[in-house]
Amino acid sequence: MDRGKKRPKLLVTRKMPDAAETAFSAHFECQFNPGDTPMSAGDIVRAADGCSAIALTSMDKFDAGLISRLPASVKMLATVSVGHEHIDLAAAAARGLVVTNTPGVLTDATADIALLLILGAARGAHWGERMVRENRWPGSSMVRPLGHDVSGQRLGILGMGRIGQAVARRASAFGMTIHYHSRKPVIGSAAPGAVFHGVFEDMLPHCDFLSVNCAMTEETRKMINARTLALLPHGAIVINTARGGIVDDDALIAALVSGHVAAAGLDVFANEPNIDPRYRSMENVFLLPHLGSATLRTRTNMALKALDNLTAFTQGKTPPDKLN
Ligand code: DGY
Repeated sequence: MDRGKKRPKLLVTRKMPDAAETAFSAHFECQFNPGDTPMSAGDIVRAADGCSAIALTSMDKFDAGLISRLPASVKMLATVSVGHEHIDLAAAAARGLVVTNTPGVLTDATADIALLLILGAARGAHWGERMVRENRWPGSSMVRPLGHDVSGQRLGILGMGRIGQAVARRASAFGMTIHYHSRKPVIGSAAPGAVFHGVFEDMLPHCDFLSVNCAMTEETRKMINARTLALLPHGAIVINTARGGIVDDDALIAALVSGHVAAAGLDVFANEPNIDPRYRSMENVFLLPHLGSATLRTRTNMALKALDNLTAFTQGKTPPDKLN
């Protein structure tokens, strides 16, 4: 990069891993957020003054209202996430903003967390860990506490994209049989023998475990609801590493209380971080704070992928992960 040349200005809404911030600075005059304080819409509008682009995260809601208030200098929004439901793509397109995301680089990390949730929810890793930590372990017993088997069970995957396929590969290695629902069958399936269901409801009776791995859209909002949960076998386990809005919390909590759903493993929630407080006191729910992509390497790679998109755009090329 020619240091003598004026670099375009970039607003980065949240703190990025150090290596990524160094790389950003080589290409842009960056306005970083060293304190990692969430920015309000007003903060973003002010801070974006004179910026050509904004690197944002899934925690920043770019709705039509905020997009309409962005300074005219802003031409691109690069979200450091694969999910992009926090950006109103239609409003961005109407304003002529290019929007990009970061698919691919977080597949393995997110699939690992799905397996952690499957194992944790089924085997009661959370209550076991607390029992030992809080010195409440009375010694082992043949009958309590007992969890649920994972191997030999059927896993239904809702959404067989990159992450769904990576979950299928891992779960197969744990001896699970894979069923999946997606728009079309996955050619050369990630999990040999995985059974495709063209209709979501048809898959549910075959799911001892259900893993949510689809994108959050108007179509998938509250797709896991009282009606669909009722189609699961009694005692099924529900896992969500996608987005909280895909699950109707009232329905899932009712099913967990009745025992129709034996346990849930949740990494994502509606209205994060202000989750439905009822989950906190439920012993049959294994909770994580949206850790899907939370490793240093993965988060760095996500930021660097956003940077590839940003630099392509400023060089007049089509960004590789352009969404609109
Ligand atoms: C994503 O990339 O969408 C992850 O959920 C992190 O926000």
